Amino acid sequence: MLPLTEQHTRTPQKRFNLAENYALLNTNNHSSDEYIPIDEMKPHQDIMQMFRDAKQNNTYLKVQAPMVRYSKLAFRLLCLEYNCDVVYTPMMMADSFSKSQKARDSDFATHVHDKPLVVQFAANNPTDFSLACQYIAPFCDGIDINCGCPQPYVMKENLGAALVTQPQKIFDMVHEANNKFISGTFRPIGVKIRIHPDDDSLEFRKTIDLARQIEKAGASWVTVHGRTHKQRTKNTKVNPDGPKIVKQALQIPVMHNGDVFSLKDANDLASYTGCDGIMSARGLLSNPALFAGFNQVPFECIERYLQISIQVGGIPFQLLHHHVMFMLYSHHQFLSNDIIEFSNCTSVASILDFFEDRGLSISL
Ligand SMILES: Cc1cc2nc3c(=O)[nH]c(=O)nc-3n(C[C@H](O)[C@H](O)[C@H](O)COP(=O)(O)O)c2cc1C
Repeated sequence: MLPLTEQHTRTPQKRFNLAENYALLNTNNHSSDEYIPIDEMKPHQDIMQMFRDAKQNNTYLKVQAPMVRYSKLAFRLLCLEYNCDVVYTPMMMADSFSKSQKARDSDFATHVHDKPLVVQFAANNPTDFSLACQYIAPFCDGIDINCGCPQPYVMKENLGAALVTQPQKIFDMVHEANNKFISGTFRPIGVKIRIHPDDDSLEFRKTIDLARQIEKAGASWVTVHGRTHKQRTKNTKVNPDGPKIVKQALQIPVMHNGDVFSLKDANDLASYTGCDGIMSARGLLSNPALFAGFNQVPFECIERYLQISIQVGGIPFQLLHHHVMFMLYSHHQFLSNDIIEFSNCTSVASILDFFEDRGLSISL
């Protein structure tokens, strides 16, 4: 388990966005006091070395999944405090990110403690993806392509899971971005996929071909969510044989994703699949402390989320409220009446009162 006291005294110091830091990086007329290069402020962490170390220690990396809307800065910092080894941003659109300063500033913020950080993009062409990679590289430790999102609005744009049947497109993006990195800041590239829709649940031939193409293109790791794009989390259990067979077919690290709701699930799936990393999404939303061995979210974790959110700032109240709601839903102490009362909270002050009324006091 985590040394909670040490982690809890960690005070976030500096949140920064791209505009602010490009100004810092690009200015030539700075005084030495104000100029702190990004790689000094937030030294790069070598995720590939982490994979190697984990393998050597007969363990695996515990990874917080990309989640649109939810895996933002405060949540990532929280997960890192509770034993996540690597955290992902939500998917961001590479085309707008590469073209618009406004998109970059509104989509992304990071922090000195926000690492090891993987930034995920939805992209379908090498130009947008490479450019987005160039912008983001100094601020992250790895970059991922989302080839797993099944949402109709994403697939309609030929993004996300639509790419599972277009290996050449993924190949071109990874290959070109890696080539561009040769003259710049190198960041390893991962690809997150689902099972190929034509595969049956035994052989996974097309999924293996796809994963081999991705490896050949120069990707550093592959994450496999063991469902096809038609299978929904609520009515189809994840098939861990997909990630297991892909792991056996590749040399690069492979991560398993899907249906991890406890540390035991993660340990069991790591043993079964032999994967190098285990990624959780919904499990961490309900219980960000799951990789630290808590079977349900400890109250301190909810308190910590509120503290971090206030400290790093920039989080709309509705998002903060959703996060706490996810945590309360899964907590046996809070019954449906509590949830109804909580859903009526409209300010941080009313959230504090909600807990105070139940004898749980939060210090911000
Ligand atoms: C709220 C939410 C947002 C998600 N957003 C993303 C995303 O931005 N990128 C992505 O690759 N997958 C996204 N996913 C899918 C998850 O990363 C993961 O693949 C899926 O939920 C299965 O893992 P789980 O069983 O641990 O939830 C999202 C899932 C949820 C629940």
